[in-house]
Amino acid sequence: MKVITIANAAGSAGKTTTTVTLAALLAQRGVRVVVIDLDGQANSTRWLGIDPDAVDATSGAVMLRTATLADALVETNTPGVRLVPASESVYADGITLQQVTGREMRLASALRKLDNADVVLIDCPGTIGLMTVAALVASDEVLTVTQPTSKELEGIASLEATIAEVVEDFDKDLELAAIVPCIVPPATSGALYVEAVEQLREAYGDLVTPSVRRSVKAAGSYSHREPLPTFAPREGVTLDYTAVLEHLIARGVLA
Ligand SMILES: Nc1ncnc2c1ncn2[C@@H]1O[C@H](COP(=O)(O)OP(=O)(O)OP(=O)(O)O)[C@@H](O)[C@H]1O
Ligand SMILES: [Mg+2]
Repeated sequence: MKVITIANAAGSAGKTTTTVTLAALLAQRGVRVVVIDLDGQANSTRWLGIDPDAVDATSGAVMLRTATLADALVETNTPGVRLVPASESVYADGITLQQVTGREMRLASALRKLDNADVVLIDCPGTIGLMTVAALVASDEVLTVTQPTSKELEGIASLEATIAEVVEDFDKDLELAAIVPCIVPPATSGALYVEAVEQLREAYGDLVTPSVRRSVKAAGSYSHREPLPTFAPREGVTLDYTAVLEHLIARGVLA
């Protein structure tokens, strides 16, 4: 089983879109996937067809040990993808957790009881806090997503600093495994975006996956509560994510 965190320091960069799309693409290939939603916004929960207000238990409850992982795990709208959902209560759980001993290890220890899964994808909140750190501690690999602007690129250094702290504090072998340029406008939108992706490739080389183009299908797919690979299988944005997946498999990030 491989555990992969999708995190970044800036919000709205494409974490949830990347998590849900990769989960669905992996499942199409017969990989048994579990998505863990650590964000109180519950976007990946909704996208996978689960009503956050109707779930028995959330990721936050599992970390607080008021529920087990088995209690929280649900089947989703996508065969082969199971989910540990979030709801708004995860925000409060995160605050309660601040007082809990071993809080950063709570997700890692819960995941040790998970079986029948090949890949676990953890969708993190938009800012780096306890939930992201707990995800990193539980992970084998870290993936980040970024939009092609300099402000966004600066966020990568901030995530790398957090990874370095986790490596030191928890004696883990963990490094940034991939950077996915997301919501990339067409070249006709201006040299700025093209240059930002070039800068990224110069700085990070093979860590940078193929780009994911900007497409209205991303929002449409979320509104329809259906992942891109089934909502828009032949759209460019879905094919971009297939190229991202191939890159991750070739680099050994995904089994
Ligand atoms: N390739 C794309 N093209 C156009 N819009 C996109 C694309 N990917 C994501 N979006 C849109 O950008 C917004 C942010 O995407 P997403 O929710 O995946 O980011 P996030 O990093 O998970 O955000 P948050 O930090 O709020 O959790 C959403 O409205 C989504 O529909
Ligand atoms: Mg999100």
